[in-house]
Amino acid sequence: MKIFADTANVEEIKKINEMGLIDGVTTNPTLVAREGKDWETVEKQICEIVDGPVSAEVTASDSEGMIKQARELSGWADNIVVKIPMTAEGLKAVNVLSKEGIKTNVTLVFSAAQGLLAAKVGATYVSPFLGRLDDIGTSGIELVEKLRQLFDNYGYETEIIAASIRHVQHVEQVALAGCDIATIPGKLIPKLWEHPLTDKGLATFEKDWAEFEQLQKQKGE
Ligand code: G3P
Repeated sequence: MKIFADTANVEEIKKINEMGLIDGVTTNPTLVAREGKDWETVEKQICEIVDGPVSAEVTASDSEGMIKQARELSGWADNIVVKIPMTAEGLKAVNVLSKEGIKTNVTLVFSAAQGLLAAKVGATYVSPFLGRLDDIGTSGIELVEKLRQLFDNYGYETEIIAASIRHVQHVEQVALAGCDIATIPGKLIPKLWEHPLTDKGLATFEKDWAEFEQLQKQKGE
């Protein structure tokens, strides 16, 4: 499964990218606004750091506006993917953009039916929001499972990006469900490699080794 960083924080992206862990980045208006910097500059910086796809979201709500903005955004860098909200206007826009070869990520997907329509109009990616479904007492993982089956049944090439990931279990569950990509908040990514038993085990190894070395030294004296 590919891992994307769900953040617009350039420093965070640099650090994780250096470890060879990320295959792409997703941003949205909330994440960009949080950084308080010029949108275009931020997206271009991210696109330079990361080789893989970088999603930048349109802010227009009508299809004409979205198409115009998408053409502009896709000119910012070769690896820009245009994020389009899952609305009727959004579907109209994706239908036009996919024919022009502009890569799209249909976002705010909360049902299998929405995912099916996005795939039908040629979306490159769909982003089901797991955490927000869990928040209202439904299952985000079930949606990923349904989308997987649906795309496999009909041979859609649209890739599933599990978004609104809140904890490590979400990542493990979507990987087991055959999801193509998980986009993970920058702050959550270290939690994937951290484990208290790893730390405890390492502390024991270090202590035992130091005692052994001390003993060897005393023997040699
Ligand atoms: O990729 C979508 C994500 O940023 C939304 O996450 O936690 O606000 O539901 P959240």
